[in-house]
Amino acid sequence: MQKVLILDFGGQYNQLIARRVREEHVYCELREHDMPLEEIRRFDPIGIIFTGGPGSVYLPGAPKPDPGIFTLGKPILGICYGCQLLAQMLGGRVIPAQADSAREYGKTDTVFDPGCALFRGLPEESVTWMSHGDYLAEAPAGFRLSAHSAACPTAAICDEARRFYGVQFHPEVHHTAFGGAMLHNFLYEICGAAGDWTMASFRDQAVSAIREKVGEGRALLGLSGGVDSSVAAALVAEAVGSRLQCVFVDHGLLREGEGDQVEAAFADRELQFLRVDARERFLKRLAGVEEPERKRKIIGEEFVRVFEEVGKAIGAVDYLVQGTIYPDVIESGRGAAAVIKSHHNVGGLPAQVEFREILEPLRTLFKDEVRQLGRELGLPEELVSRQPFPGPGLAIRVIGAVTAEKLELLRRADAIFREEIAAAGLAQHCSQYFAALTNMRSVGVMGDGRSYDYAVALRSVQTGDFMTADWTRLPYELLDRVSVRIVNEVRGVNRVFYDITSKPPATVEYE
Ligand code: XMP
Repeated sequence: MQKVLILDFGGQYNQLIARRVREEHVYCELREHDMPLEEIRRFDPIGIIFTGGPGSVYLPGAPKPDPGIFTLGKPILGICYGCQLLAQMLGGRVIPAQADSAREYGKTDTVFDPGCALFRGLPEESVTWMSHGDYLAEAPAGFRLSAHSAACPTAAICDEARRFYGVQFHPEVHHTAFGGAMLHNFLYEICGAAGDWTMASFRDQAVSAIREKVGEGRALLGLSGGVDSSVAAALVAEAVGSRLQCVFVDHGLLREGEGDQVEAAFADRELQFLRVDARERFLKRLAGVEEPERKRKIIGEEFVRVFEEVGKAIGAVDYLVQGTIYPDVIESGRGAAAVIKSHHNVGGLPAQVEFREILEPLRTLFKDEVRQLGRELGLPEELVSRQPFPGPGLAIRVIGAVTAEKLELLRRADAIFREEIAAAGLAQHCSQYFAALTNMRSVGVMGDGRSYDYAVALRSVQTGDFMTADWTRLPYELLDRVSVRIVNEVRGVNRVFYDITSKPPATVEYE
């Protein structure tokens, strides 16, 4: 399989570059900028991309690749900082933008030379997304200028003989009108990509690799019902069949019908599926606990306990399968961020059972690729396109102490909200949507009587990465239908709120 190497210089769009390349059906990996030359040789990429970054190439300590990279005979595309780096390391000159007018941020009209392979077949003028305070004053010998904007005569440079290209703008962001086409040109016209990265090919390779590794051994997988662990289960099951033991811990904090749905999705696959009914013990441990972090810790601990017990009962297991995906791998390689919430993914907790190794068959895939793979493996669409659901489940959507009654009430209200969103055809439009049960009770009037009942909060957000989010502008008519249905159909609720806070300052979940 052909591979593209993306060297990471710390820019904020780096994951996006990798995703764009994958969308072009070319496999790529994002690696640290100081990857040793020998390793790069072994990696044997068809092309290399230098990402953007926050640094200035002329300052001491600026991140740089091994200079030998220019002697490998591989095509290189430098983006923003990567472009300046390429230019400077090959003898050009980069300086801080002298005048404010030479700094460029945002959408910029840019003129291209269609004679440059990177821009072949594209309009001569279009909008690009610029974000740079440094300025390429002089291109290195052998390079020519291949794009300019009003403020910048060196918006792009190229040395077609050595197949080195640099762009000051960001082709990976959607604001760059023909950015996708430029990356396509780099991959197909310049690097000679064949487009061999498809989920069908990944599936074949992964299945034989897992088979070879696991051999006659046995694997254990904690299935949460989320997309990642479900797809990992289907993939490993295809490789080793009934030697995969899936454990689905029903902690009673799932949404309406969810446990049965997960079980049904795996019913006719050749794997061992064990559903552990742990509802009572979770409720017992959560009784009277109001503090959100405490709840999260208890659920995490209790999950490990159950998992340990199951592991012991099953006996010798050689491999533990985890649904780790590529963004987790990339993120964990970076500096620690402040802990806002102690996230835990029920599907991905290591058990105390004896095992030889951890298998992470999805660790090179982005979320959208995991979904594609799930479809390829024949998992039902409602499982594959499922919105994220937190490991601690409904416990962090019942504000305050959790009881069986409150969970039941919330499950119903949430199901109504989800039904109506689906009926309105908005399910794919909203990134995540759910109901939460507030700890507020208030007075209402029902029939001729007084009520003193709970308020349900509805939340729906739009987001790409869940780090920031905006609330969804849902139609009033839809909100009205949901509100009427909830107060009529769910006994114990007499008010419905719609949450119109973005993240930050709020978070997506309530606890
Ligand atoms: P917050 O509330 O932090 O949520 O804005 C961001 C995204 O993460 C999900 N989330 C979790 N996922 N385990 C998970 O696997 C957790 O403990 C957890 N807490 C929040 C949340 O649903 C949203 O998609």
